[in-house]
Amino acid sequence: MSQPTQPSSGHAAKVIAVTVAAAVGGFLFGFDSSVINGAVDSIQGHFELGSFFTGFAVAIALLGCAAGAWFAGQLADRWGRKKVMLLGSALFTISSIGSGLAFSVPDLMLWRVLGGLGIGIASVIAPTYISEIAPARYRGSLASLQQLAITLGIFTALLSDAILQNAAGGASNELWWNLEAWRWMFLVGVVPALVYGVLALMIPESPRFLVGKDLDEEAARILADVTGDLHPDERVAEIRLTLRRETARSWDDIRGPVFGLQSLVWVGITMAIFQQFVGINAIFYYSTTLWKSVGFSENQSFTTSVITAVINVVMTFVAILFVDKIGRRPLLMVGSIGMFVSLLLAAIAFSQATGSGDDLQLPAPWGTVALVGANAFVIFFAATWGPIMWVMLGEMFPNRMRALALGLSTAANWIANFTVTLAFPPLTESVGLWFLYGLFAFFALLSFFFVKSKIPETKGMELEDMHT
Ligand code: GLC
Repeated sequence: MSQPTQPSSGHAAKVIAVTVAAAVGGFLFGFDSSVINGAVDSIQGHFELGSFFTGFAVAIALLGCAAGAWFAGQLADRWGRKKVMLLGSALFTISSIGSGLAFSVPDLMLWRVLGGLGIGIASVIAPTYISEIAPARYRGSLASLQQLAITLGIFTALLSDAILQNAAGGASNELWWNLEAWRWMFLVGVVPALVYGVLALMIPESPRFLVGKDLDEEAARILADVTGDLHPDERVAEIRLTLRRETARSWDDIRGPVFGLQSLVWVGITMAIFQQFVGINAIFYYSTTLWKSVGFSENQSFTTSVITAVINVVMTFVAILFVDKIGRRPLLMVGSIGMFVSLLLAAIAFSQATGSGDDLQLPAPWGTVALVGANAFVIFFAATWGPIMWVMLGEMFPNRMRALALGLSTAANWIANFTVTLAFPPLTESVGLWFLYGLFAFFALLSFFFVKSKIPETKGMELEDMHT
């Protein structure tokens, strides 16, 4: 076992700075995946889309995310972490401009898929880079900054959509400076995309990647400089040892006896799927529609969405503060139980609805119960499963398989997200909200037993000590 490093406060500041730079990818992840919310009604009107194609226009970017996540892992091993971040920044920039100026639906979808590739890349590269550069004892807190950035991205998209809509006189299809507001919603994404690119140019390459490319001296220099590691040469030797344990550096590293993969890879994939199947994005992508459908006014629905987004940001600090003290497993288990109870509460409330379709109403006090249930769910998710799933995917795999296994698990997370996002609107109409929330509650309960029996505790361990 390696001794934990003891960085000085100067080094702590450096580690935090490079972590924040990598986490800007998380901001873009949150921003670009949520920005469509404010634009979707106008896009539907502008291009005369039916409800299926509207849902498809929202969800298609998520398929791009899955592909981006999948390729990012492999590219990160070939080109290095920094170059992949630059690619992400370029994709975000192109997609923001293209979507903002789109003249047809296929055109818009193409740009959204390209943006999705960028989101997918960012969702893999931030946890990889952060966990590889962070000292073990702070790694959980530092890696949680990515989720903090995601939640800030979601919040900012919501706010910027609202500001632009107001500037255009209250409707997203009205003109502001010669372009409809919904176009500006996409276009402003250029700013964080370029910031991400500039920051990616300024941060050092990951020492674990450099050792893999036989650049030991540079790796040692970065370890000493950024993390304040007192014995960088010893650390480099340890990294080298874990990389050498097997000769091949490919699919062979993740192949195994359980349906062709190592069981730890399945643990990663299952955890990634659970994080989506509890239904978090049914709230973030459709919240305004959800609250309107239970009888809230347009304004009330929007205010509720903003409050939920703020809760999401604030509660992430719970994970940042406790993940390295209490550990990953206990937090995840508390999260699972909390999510189960609150989702069940929401399901019971929705089961009391009267009417259907646009006339759905929740009689008192069930509207309040649904509101409390849904927001309590966000509280538990944001403090536990939201950040910790990303923390764990970045750290739980041995060095040799990390990039590939993380890419695979993250792609599974995006495909699960795509499934929920595409299925939610039609299923709401056919089986009802209460059933869907009941299903989400069921997955939350299952996730508890999954954590209890399958997820390893990784608190405080060096990446070199992770085994399958
Ligand atoms: C996590 C999820 C993401 C979700 C976000 C909400 O990052 O992976 O899908 O939108 O949390 O905060």
